[in-house]
Amino acid sequence: MHLTSLSALFTTILFAFLSLSEAALPGTWPLLDKPPPMKPEWASLVNIQQLPKAPIQTTLAGNCSQAAQFCIWSCNTCTRSASDIVTCPGTKEWGISYDDGPSPYTPALLDFLKQTNTKVTFAVIGSRVVERPEVLQRIKDEGHEIVIHTWSHPSLTTVSTQQIIAELKWTELAIQTAVGLTPKIMRPPFGDIDDRVRSIATQLGYKILLWDRDTFDWKSASDPSFQPSWIPGNFTQWVTDGNSHISLEHDLYPIGAQNAPAAIKIVRNAGYTIKPVSVCTGMPAYVQNVQLVASGPAPPNTTANGTDGTANTASTNDTSNNSSSSSAFGSHHLLSSVLLLIVISMAISTL
Ligand SMILES: *[C@@H]1O[C@H](CO)[C@@H](O)[C@H](O)[C@H]1NC(C)=O
Ligand SMILES: *[C@@H]1O[C@H](CO)[C@@H](O)[C@H](O)[C@H]1NC(C)=O
Ligand SMILES: *[C@@H]1O[C@H](CO)[C@@H](O)[C@H](O)[C@H]1NC(C)=O
Ligand SMILES: *[C@@H]1O[C@H](CO)[C@@H](O)[C@H](O)[C@H]1NC(C)=O
Ligand SMILES: *[C@@H]1O[C@H](CO)[C@@H](O)[C@H](O)[C@H]1NC(C)=O
Ligand SMILES: *[C@@H]1O[C@H](CO)[C@@H](O)[C@H](O)[C@H]1NC(C)=O
Ligand SMILES: *[C@@H]1O[C@H](CO)[C@@H](O)[C@H](O)[C@H]1NC(C)=O
Ligand SMILES: [Zn+2]
Repeated sequence: MHLTSLSALFTTILFAFLSLSEAALPGTWPLLDKPPPMKPEWASLVNIQQLPKAPIQTTLAGNCSQAAQFCIWSCNTCTRSASDIVTCPGTKEWGISYDDGPSPYTPALLDFLKQTNTKVTFAVIGSRVVERPEVLQRIKDEGHEIVIHTWSHPSLTTVSTQQIIAELKWTELAIQTAVGLTPKIMRPPFGDIDDRVRSIATQLGYKILLWDRDTFDWKSASDPSFQPSWIPGNFTQWVTDGNSHISLEHDLYPIGAQNAPAAIKIVRNAGYTIKPVSVCTGMPAYVQNVQLVASGPAPPNTTANGTDGTANTASTNDTSNNSSSSSAFGSHHLLSSVLLLIVISMAISTL
């Protein structure tokens, strides 16, 4: 064999190993948190001729000079009522939503939701669904709503149409493979959406979930000055207007996940009914005929006093027995790399 064709072969093999990986969810999936490759069969789902000509931004809300023309929510919270969900339309209803999981902190939150008969919405990252399919199964089984939140969490106004399709469809595929559901609602990372992104999402069959109350709890991951008490503090203020809302929190980080129960108690004690967003809006959550329901009445206080209802629950520590690494180079990868090295050295020794 020629050296050039050999090296071409190795390059191909190497690329295959680096761009796709084995994971907890059966099948071969794109790498965690990296932009996924496009599948050719998805291209025909979006008619590019119909897309509004909003310029692709270089950074999130980088150039808002055409914010009004292309309705860029991340610039001026512009919405289009045909596609966008911003709040619950009813009286004293609250759509509680958690983004960016499933994470190691999600199971304890699910324990609390179950104990208190609370039904919420999870906007999930496709690659984390692949890491923790059993957590997504719990989310489904316990009556919560699952919404698509992309594969690698880019600002969608900054990426190509092909990339947007790949981000959404890979996530949809991961959710379908894990729990057999096909969501009809997507949430854009950072709420970053314009008319081009809207049209892509709409042509793919999704409504777009935004929010009208934001805890900024994600900042706790990198900003040590973030006060956990701000999360219940914000909710305490928000409930005073008596209006319906959809709020944004994150189950990816410990401070966000651990303060979620306090926030729920505040909303409930203020007389709100907590509903998955498809329930409060009356929109279908999934292609499949699945009837989600509102939260039921909370059971009488059997837990201790205080603000944290998770404190005395027998929550499991992590998600599963399979200690799947959060790194892209988990045990499967290590094995693959070793095998690859063996193949390469064998091939070189036969030259
Ligand atoms: C912002 O966008 C407008 C319209 O596309 C363009 O004319 C202008 O040069 C852009 N400004 C910057 C700083 O990129
Ligand atoms: C609400 O959260 C913000 C940070 O997002 C914080 O600055 C503010 O103090 C919080 N409000 C209360 C009442 O805790
Ligand atoms: C449950 O506890 C909350 C405070 O944690 C309290 O406001 C509420 O009255 C209690 N409800 C019952 C039924 O004891
Ligand atoms: C809750 O706290 C109050 C006073 O702080 C106490 O009287 C009550 O017994 C406590 N209830 C539980 C279940 O710990
Ligand atoms: C969780 O982990 C801690 C320390 O690693 C351990 O002490 C505890 O028993 C574990 N709890 C469960 C429910 O596995
Ligand atoms: C972990 O494995 C043990 C023994 O194989 C089993 O009893 C337990 O249910 C497993 N736990 C999970 C979360 O799968
Ligand atoms: C653990 O992984 C094995 C093989 O990878 C799989 O058969 C098993 O179902 C997994 N168990 C859990 C609890 O995820
Ligand atoms: Zn997010």
